[in-house]
Amino acid sequence: MSSVAPMLLCEDLVVGHAGHAVMSGVNIDLAPGKILAIVGPSGCGKSTLMRVLGGLDEPMAGRSELLGTDLVHATAAERETVLRRSGYLFQGSALFSSLTLRENVELPLREFLPLPPQEVAQLAEYKLALVGLADAMDKLPSEISGGMAKRAGIARALALDPAVMFLDEPSAGLDPVTSGKLDELILKIKESFGTTIILVSHEVPSILRIADFCVYLDSDTGRMGAYAPPKDFLSPTAHAKAHAFFTLSRIT
Ligand SMILES: Nc1ncnc2c1ncn2[C@@H]1O[C@H](COP(=O)(O)OP(=O)(O)OP(=O)(O)O)[C@@H](O)[C@H]1O
Ligand SMILES: [Mg+2]
Repeated sequence: MSSVAPMLLCEDLVVGHAGHAVMSGVNIDLAPGKILAIVGPSGCGKSTLMRVLGGLDEPMAGRSELLGTDLVHATAAERETVLRRSGYLFQGSALFSSLTLRENVELPLREFLPLPPQEVAQLAEYKLALVGLADAMDKLPSEISGGMAKRAGIARALALDPAVMFLDEPSAGLDPVTSGKLDELILKIKESFGTTIILVSHEVPSILRIADFCVYLDSDTGRMGAYAPPKDFLSPTAHAKAHAFFTLSRIT
């Protein structure tokens, strides 16, 4: 374990809905500036876990610290500080359909930064240019492709220069080339800004390429199966279901 304070620390975390546990036994210790992938079968609780890790929902039990703050016991002001330093791309991008891409990115800036409109517009333009959407700033979400919508969602998540970003299935539904470009963008964000990135993904090649660590959620047991660098899951001695997931093999 490194001597650097963790960006994310979970101990025996249990997450679920309305008193029903979906995933238990989640233990994670992630240093700043790393990329963590959350993987597992559909419906196993990846999005549920990610919302708890990001402080958007409360865990049912256990402990979860983000940016050194225990999110369960934090005051409203402490939680607000953590949320202000976090960026989110929800499953499906969730852009506001009646706003242009520029206006979508301006929204968090206007909410949190006391800047004149011109400077807010410039910051939004910078973030959209960063994700390769300089030519589409004045388009509505209905006028752009799925890949562009993902990138616009990432630009919005980047608006406030977050220390940590949560991306729920950023490459779902994209062709391999567009998905590869998104991987490059995610790596660029990590390398340029030192941003910690926590993402949910089903794309094994992408995870092997960009993630430093991977959490495998086991839907059969309802418990975290393994937490390791993704390439470790390629080994036949790895957690059997995580190994099967990564090598697309059958469990015998
Ligand atoms: N808001 C909610 N209220 C109640 N149950 C929910 C809610 N959201 C999700 N669930 C349930 O929690 C379980 C986990 O859902 P979750 O969305 O976290 O899975 P997932 O791993 O992200 O799936 P997918 O790969 O399909 O996105 C499912 O059984 C789902 O029906
Ligand atoms: Mg999900």
